[in-house]
Amino acid sequence: MKILVVLGPNLNLLGKREVNIYGTMTFPELVDCIEQEAEKLGMEIEIFQSNHEGAIIDKIQKSAHFDGLIINPGALTHYSIALRDCIAAVGIPTIEVHMSNVYAREEFRKHSVIAPVCWGQISGLGHLGYLAALHVFSRKEEEA
Ligand code: DQA
Repeated sequence: MKILVVLGPNLNLLGKREVNIYGTMTFPELVDCIEQEAEKLGMEIEIFQSNHEGAIIDKIQKSAHFDGLIINPGALTHYSIALRDCIAAVGIPTIEVHMSNVYAREEFRKHSVIAPVCWGQISGLGHLGYLAALHVFSRKEEEA
């Protein structure tokens, strides 16, 4: 099973950015952590981070051969209709992940334009959210 993990704007700053909200794990540490979990589960993964909406859309458009997409769209979550249309067009089963609990923060973070085209959403579990999403895809394959 081949999973694409996409991390959007400012997630490259993890460990430096608002550590009270996003924690002290750095971006390279997060990448290692996701890769290790995927290896344990016998999954093939690719991790892609970009601060650019267009680059993320180009990547997802070329990823129809993946079995699943785990995406933290960062702030694009709240306004990118282009990203939503791309996920809907490509049709890969998608889990939206947020490290912080977006429902316990500012009003504008409570609305995701991406969620309606996703299989499900995980919010507030920090780095564990990505690992949980990997487990969900692994289990989905076992049950298929
Ligand atoms: C985030 C939540 C978003 O509102 C924010 O813009 C981010 C990170 C999260 O992981 O909690 O960049 O997606």
